[in-house]
Amino acid sequence: MLFEKSNETANFLKGKTNYRPKTAVILGSGLGDLVNYIEDQVEVDYKDIPHFPVSTVAGHAGKLVFGKIGGVEVVAMKGRFHFYEGYEMRTVTYPIYVFKQMGIENIIVSNAAGGINRTFDPGTLMIITDFINMFGTNPLIGHNDERFGPRFPDMSEVYKKDFIEKAKNVADEIGVKYREGVYIGVTGPYYETAAEISAFEKLGASAVGMSTVPESMIANYLGLKVLGISCITNMATGIATKAHSHEDVMAVAKRTGEDFCRWVAKIVSKLG
Ligand code: HPA
Repeated sequence: MLFEKSNETANFLKGKTNYRPKTAVILGSGLGDLVNYIEDQVEVDYKDIPHFPVSTVAGHAGKLVFGKIGGVEVVAMKGRFHFYEGYEMRTVTYPIYVFKQMGIENIIVSNAAGGINRTFDPGTLMIITDFINMFGTNPLIGHNDERFGPRFPDMSEVYKKDFIEKAKNVADEIGVKYREGVYIGVTGPYYETAAEISAFEKLGASAVGMSTVPESMIANYLGLKVLGISCITNMATGIATKAHSHEDVMAVAKRTGEDFCRWVAKIVSKLG
């Protein structure tokens, strides 16, 4: 079912544009300005896409933007689907299956995240080296369609080392500062307790967020090359000296977004 459905969605999208991008970018909260770098845009609203869920959270526009960055074709997802919104894991990751069916080979997954590593400040950009899945479930559970990938997929290098290397080289070239670390994914929608963050720190996590793990996992399962970038918008609970607010998170993401956009735009332009 999922194979046929996602193929139908992919065919619909191919009918909407002549672009045949090999690279997709998922834009996290407050990081949507990347679309300003996309030339000759073709936009498709999620609500017009067959079988596509519609996103509900404030700050997520809910559209695919096709176009070119530095002459390289790309599709950006502005607005993603979160588990905390009540979607099934398979729904959260549905766009990744569609991307695979469209011929996408590289995917850059971004997010806003809380900093657990005490040397990270709000505004830090972190290359994700690995994830810890704290969702308590995952999108691979249930029937496996071998046309997509194996029953027991390998997750030893979800974020491909050569892709990370490329991102680092580009960052150095254009003067963007970055750190590296492990992303721990939780369901949300509440910001974690101080005890949870203390536990996550002991587990080896550098940043915490409510997305990215399901999409990265499925992208890797489908054989896509994944790059993950977190924008640290706040220090995590217990490390932060004040209560969290979604508005603060969005404001820092927007501010740090400038470097993020320059960086990701340049990476995309080198994937041609
Ligand atoms: N926790 C979880 N998700 C987040 C945070 C956080 O502190 N900041 C931005 N997204």
